[in-house]
Amino acid sequence: MSFIKLIVFVTFSLSFTFSNAHPVGFNFGWGAHHHHHHGGMSFGLSPQFYQFSCPQANDIVMSVLEKAIAKDIRLAASLLRLHFHDCFVQGCDASVLLDDSVTVASEKNGGPNKNSLRGFQVIDEIKAKLEQTCPHTVSCADIVALAARGSTVLSGGPNWELPLGRRDSKTASLRGSNKNIPPPNATIEGLLTFFKRQGLDDVDLVALSGAHTIGVAKCATFKQRLYNQNGNNQPDENLEKTFYFGLKTMCPKSGGDNNISPLDFGSPRMFDNTYYKLLLRGKGLLNSDEVLVTGNVRETHELVRTYAQDESLFFEQFALSMIKLGNLRPLTGFNGEVRKNCRRVN
Ligand code: HEM
Ligand SMILES: *[C@@H]1O[C@H](CO)[C@@H](O)[C@H](O)[C@H]1NC(C)=O
Repeated sequence: MSFIKLIVFVTFSLSFTFSNAHPVGFNFGWGAHHHHHHGGMSFGLSPQFYQFSCPQANDIVMSVLEKAIAKDIRLAASLLRLHFHDCFVQGCDASVLLDDSVTVASEKNGGPNKNSLRGFQVIDEIKAKLEQTCPHTVSCADIVALAARGSTVLSGGPNWELPLGRRDSKTASLRGSNKNIPPPNATIEGLLTFFKRQGLDDVDLVALSGAHTIGVAKCATFKQRLYNQNGNNQPDENLEKTFYFGLKTMCPKSGGDNNISPLDFGSPRMFDNTYYKLLLRGKGLLNSDEVLVTGNVRETHELVRTYAQDESLFFEQFALSMIKLGNLRPLTGFNGEVRKNCRRVN
């Protein structure tokens, strides 16, 4: 371990211990707990945020998730993705849940989201149950984060201590949803840039892309690879041949744009490291998946190899990167609000 890495590790461990020792969420959901960062007062997130104000929060989330996922297994994937699309636009503030209104141009109409994001009714159901048990306490942004973790766990993936205490935005950014979320045909350079803009690095990119171990994608999102990868009417040469022929029957040259294919056809319902094994064999579904290996960035290729070989290392890093994702620019303290209905501001 290099000296720098050691310092980072020790600093991380210390700040983690510190925030654990000072639970917020005592009394009103925001406590007197604050760190002095950047010279101003800020409220940190903490796993114990609802320890006294709503200790049943996670149990309620899990019981709704279990029923919903038993009926429609894809919801686990959809809810995991929802957290990503929330956090990449204005931070993890439930902006993605707001419907169109006089003051809100909904992110649900953004290019990456329209006819694609799912799971909003499950969030509504969780919110309704939480409002019965702990009125006006658990934010929609925390519900989305809890649902993403719960969906990972219920799919066989890792568990982690989830910092809580996010508050909900009073605004959304349709523009941000069109600008900040990487497209499926992104290059490796593009992906790294989109992630860097959020403060996430190459390790986060490769680990979080592992979420594509569950769920599906529409034909429209990978069609370019089958018929015209480089404007020369040729397929992506990195596609393994049998995989390519199978995809062509699922996804004809004209029509069929809403047909779906699993992102990890080896084990589409199981959160495991098969996704990375497939990438190494030219069987990644999206261009953004395959370029982690073929994009001529040695680090991302190496990381794919590492996670393909060692599932527990993937699980460990996925958890760490999910915590980083969940910590993106949260509203805390007196900022934002706790929405009563996740679809509209109070
Ligand atoms: C690295 C850049 C990424 C790109 C370009 C990307 C792109 C996409 C696309 C195009 C789809 C299919 C959407 C559709 O057909 O309707 C999809 C699905 C999905 N994405 Fe990503 N994604 C990325 C990263 C992530 C991250 C970081 C997560 C979560 C941590 C994630 C989780 C998912 C999941 C679980 C699905 C399946 C959703 C379902 O079945 O409903 N993705 N992604
Ligand atoms: C990605 O797809 C969009 C929309 O289909 C297209 O305009 C753009 O040129 C594509 N980008 C690349 C790098 O192929």
